[in-house]
Amino acid sequence: MPSSNEHIINTISDSLEQCAEAVGDITAPVYNRFFAQCGDAEPLMGHSDEGMKGRMLAQVIELLLTDEHLGNDGYLRWEVDNHLLAYGVDVGMYPAFFEAVRDTVKDSLGTAWGVAQADAWSTRIKLLLQDVYTQAEAQA
Ligand code: HEM
Repeated sequence: MPSSNEHIINTISDSLEQCAEAVGDITAPVYNRFFAQCGDAEPLMGHSDEGMKGRMLAQVIELLLTDEHLGNDGYLRWEVDNHLLAYGVDVGMYPAFFEAVRDTVKDSLGTAWGVAQADAWSTRIKLLLQDVYTQAEAQA
């Protein structure tokens, strides 16, 4: 039976908490992983200061934990519009960033990461990417 959205968000929230207990601040490992996966992203933000990187990651974590910013007039679509137009971001960088967050959490959980966590993260990332791709198409 597919999990409810609430259950998915709770699973993600729990895994983020476990990750924070295990490794603390994940900003550096997330961006290291992101740049390793997505070489074109590093020139865009490799020199951004740590505060900026932390704020961007905090927004992404918020998007993982609430539906409040999704949909037609939501923050996510506005932010994607801005990123593609003003920062030279490519739409293909979004899955790489979300996956860098997921894989950092996954690694920190070790054997506590299982099918439930994998399913929850994969479903949530797909949902966020729907808004990302819809906005990119609207702009094209
Ligand atoms: C849903 C995903 C994302 C969200 C919510 C998000 C959010 C943000 C926010 C809030 C800022 C401004 C931070 C501040 O100055 O306070 C920012 C800046 C920026 N983001 Fe993102 N971002 C996302 C994905 C990406 C991706 C995939 C890239 C690809 C490289 C990217 C590249 C940048 C760049 C280049 C800046 C400006 C950096 C600077 O001025 O130093 N973002 N982002």
